[in-house]
Amino acid sequence: MGSLIECEDVWKIYRVGDVEVHALRGLSLTIEQGEFVAIMGSSGSGKSTLMNILGCLDQPTKGGYRLNGIEVGNLNPDQLAGIRNQQIGFVFQSFNLIPRTSALENAQLPLFYRGLSLKEQRAQAAAALERVGLQTGKC
Ligand SMILES: Nc1ncnc2c1ncn2[C@@H]1O[C@H](COP(=O)(O)OP(=O)(O)O)[C@@H](O)[C@H]1O
Ligand SMILES: [Mg+2]
Repeated sequence: MGSLIECEDVWKIYRVGDVEVHALRGLSLTIEQGEFVAIMGSSGSGKSTLMNILGCLDQPTKGGYRLNGIEVGNLNPDQLAGIRNQQIGFVFQSFNLIPRTSALENAQLPLFYRGLSLKEQRAQAAAALERVGLQTGKC
């Protein structure tokens, strides 16, 4: 079985007017299934840029990124959205919850986009909340 994450010579160049910012310069990285990895570096060293690419929110300017054996650089926006929905979980610094809805509805939302039935959304969301101790039934 291949690696979970394989980056090979990944570059990210932002263009701001006439200025080019080389945020990633030929990064190669392999992460295996089940590995825990921390990415550390000073402010401006490219951590968020890399996370955006690994999380399929952005794409490299050049270089290869394979996630679970799929070359992500060749995918269209809909296919990337599918990968984000099925394979990627982000815990952001701010929680990005939708305040006007309940915890259950927040947890259900990605499952709605996944096309599950309402019943299945409810069941999976409730089970996920229970796993983290939020099973009040009224959250
Ligand atoms: N959207 C952007 N447009 C232009 N430059 C950017 C953009 N995002 C980040 N940068 C620049 O790319 C470099 C890396 O930034 P970033 O990935 O945010 O680093 P970190 O998360 O490690 O602080 C910095 O020089 C930053 O100013
Ligand atoms: Mg950052």
